[in-house]
Amino acid sequence: MKSWANSGLGRDLHLDLAAPAGGRTSGVRAALVSALRESIRSGRLVAGTTLPPSRALALDLGVARNTVAEAYSELVAEGWLTARQGSGTRVADRARETAHRAQTRSASAPRPAWSLLPGSPDVAEFPRAAWMASARRALTAAPHDAFGPGDPRGRPELRRAVAEYLARARGVRTDPDRIVVSASSGHGLWLLARAVQGPVAVEGYGLHFHRELLGDAGAVTVPLHLDAHGAQPPDATGTRLSAALLTPAHQFPTGGPLHPSRRTAFVEWARTTGGIVIEDDYDGEFRYDRQPVGALQGLAPEQVAYLGTVSKTLSPAIRVGWMVLPEHVIDDVLAVKGVYERWVSATDQLTLADFIERGAFDRHVRRMRTLYRRRRDTLVETLAARSPHVHVTGIAAGLHAVLELPAGTEAATVGRAAGLGLAVEGLRTFRHPDGPADRPDGLVVGYSTPSSARFAATLDALCRALPTP
Ligand SMILES: Cc1ncc(COP(=O)(O)O)c(C=O)c1O
Repeated sequence: MKSWANSGLGRDLHLDLAAPAGGRTSGVRAALVSALRESIRSGRLVAGTTLPPSRALALDLGVARNTVAEAYSELVAEGWLTARQGSGTRVADRARETAHRAQTRSASAPRPAWSLLPGSPDVAEFPRAAWMASARRALTAAPHDAFGPGDPRGRPELRRAVAEYLARARGVRTDPDRIVVSASSGHGLWLLARAVQGPVAVEGYGLHFHRELLGDAGAVTVPLHLDAHGAQPPDATGTRLSAALLTPAHQFPTGGPLHPSRRTAFVEWARTTGGIVIEDDYDGEFRYDRQPVGALQGLAPEQVAYLGTVSKTLSPAIRVGWMVLPEHVIDDVLAVKGVYERWVSATDQLTLADFIERGAFDRHVRRMRTLYRRRRDTLVETLAARSPHVHVTGIAAGLHAVLELPAGTEAATVGRAAGLGLAVEGLRTFRHPDGPADRPDGLVVGYSTPSSARFAATLDALCRALPTP
């Protein structure tokens, strides 16, 4: 008896069939029943999976059709399968529950009910209809070669659309040839760190994930002091640094823009030392009270490598980002990309190119800007009413705010929030381990993370977790 059922009549099905004793029909049926039951119990065949018609499976396995039909009936009677006229034989829902319970019995603690963790847009707002319309249009129009091996720099359609968008909306100076498509800004950062090699300066408070990525790429990270103007440039005569990673439009996580004098100072540092500034423009589209701060890259395209991503504007699940690179690092970055990371999904790239070109990206960003501004205002008003002793900072832009807490209360507040089912991170999580702990206690509150339907309840949980005066 064979284990692969893959005739043209049905659907492929892999079964771990034990050889039936003596080839008897009852032995074959028992082996089939047990193989199917085990596949469902283990969760490999999930609820709703349609099994091949009995005739097709019988043909594939080289057994009598009745043997398969009887095996199916037995499993229907036991509740593992359901059989409905017209929709075939499927794995039952109850079976999934049983299998799922078995799988999760040993799983870790339950997920928190509410989340204000920074780093996510409101994923319930993903523009499904417009994205599907772009996918349909883009895939219909794409040339055949789009579905073959691609250019490691990315699809030309996307690089053109991104170049136009970045020049228009973010003040970036580029043409499509300087753009290399990546899977995310994190991916771009890792590629760049591998390409430039050597220690990288990072902001004294920043994304821990980026520090990990840099370490993984072999780069030692050196913290830069943050003051009221943002990061202080490294001492040009100190340790030789290959790069400085900055969030100039909106410092992550503390929330201010890099002061104009610092912008020029970093460019000057790069010119004198030959290092590059890596500009992480992760949420530059979201500025609420005045014009967005333009990209630092616009000041010095040969000194600044710009990283962009759709993780905040659209969804972190769309694995597309871009790098705008100084001429002299392009080849090294492409060499690091190498054979394993040569391409990002061409269908997503083509869809995004259409999405940008048709104006859907701008429309979505503008709609989300309005939504997030309202949320930010609600956060500020709610805190003013319920926790007036908590000072809110970093609110002019972005998708998160920093709540300054009374000294010595941060850890207890995060713990109290967890007890209420609310996930939220304290400011000290973001501190570089070698940098000074010179920030007040605080919470980094990602107000874009909950859906609108859950926002009020999430804020209520936050207010209950905050220390009382
Ligand atoms: C500072 C910062 N940069 C970049 C990103 C986005 O990264 P990616 O494009 O790798 O998803 C995030 C997301 O949380 C972030 O907080």
